[in-house]
Amino acid sequence: MIESVLITGASRGLGLALTVKFAENGIRVFAVSRTRRHWKQAMSKIKSGAAQVTWFTCDVSKEFQVKALFQKILRTSPLDLVINNAGYGGRLETIDKTPLGEFERHIGQNLCSVFLVSKYALRVFKKEKRGFLINVSSMAGTRAVPKLAAYSASKFAVAALTQAAVKENPDISFRALTVCPGGMNTQMRRDLFGAEDAAKQQTPEFVADKIIELVDGTFPVENGACVVIRHSKIWAVMPMPGA
Ligand SMILES: NC(=O)c1ccc[n+]([C@@H]2O[C@H](COP(=O)([O-])OP(=O)(O)OC[C@H]3O[C@@H](n4cnc5c(N)ncnc54)[C@H](OP(=O)(O)O)[C@@H]3O)[C@@H](O)[C@H]2O)c1
Repeated sequence: MIESVLITGASRGLGLALTVKFAENGIRVFAVSRTRRHWKQAMSKIKSGAAQVTWFTCDVSKEFQVKALFQKILRTSPLDLVINNAGYGGRLETIDKTPLGEFERHIGQNLCSVFLVSKYALRVFKKEKRGFLINVSSMAGTRAVPKLAAYSASKFAVAALTQAAVKENPDISFRALTVCPGGMNTQMRRDLFGAEDAAKQQTPEFVADKIIELVDGTFPVENGACVVIRHSKIWAVMPMPGA
């Protein structure tokens, strides 16, 4: 049973939709964002269960900040579920025009962040002998998208971390899934493709509902699977390849 969840990238988009829904279900939420910039607006979206939410700033691509975050949270509560949702979309650019620094930023923000949060989450889960990890990748993490090579490459690797986490922990009650949303109507999509395009995409609230179904078992999938949520439905479930 899930009583507490850590959600990264909680101040906007999918992370905020998850925060609102978990809080409304009476689950304690540790809501993390890089800055405080969107907290006021985010809090105004939480109609009930606001007391369930504790906000933290943490740049999840920085190990010392992630380590301190876990220390602070664990002083007050155990942790049942961790959702690696924070991400960076960057801008549309072909490989030949992408500066190395921009490529490295994607790896740092979309991959090192998932590695770091998983690292400290797994220390907790191993100790408790139980836990649930959700890593948010993207449709672009299942097939490459032109002009999003750096983003795609960073997101492909997220599934590898999920699978390795499952394979390394067969002796505890541990589950991990990769979730690959298609386009969602969030700021990231607006920044990349414009407001008109974003308005045609699935809502982050719909994707949050599907993630909750994966967590509570309403939509059962095998441990380590990659779940594609696209065009407002669960589009595909790709099982984890064996040894
Ligand atoms: N939107 C789409 O169409 C789409 C499609 C497929 C997959 N995804 C993935 O879904 C996830 C959520 O995307 P979204 O569209 O909801 O994003 P978004 O609207 O851009 O929101 C990003 C959130 O992540 C936080 N964040 C970014 N970098 C961070 C860091 N280093 N440390 C801590 N927090 C950080 C931001 O906080 P600050 O504002 O304080 O920086 C913000 O709360 C991402 O992993 C994204 O790649 C999105």
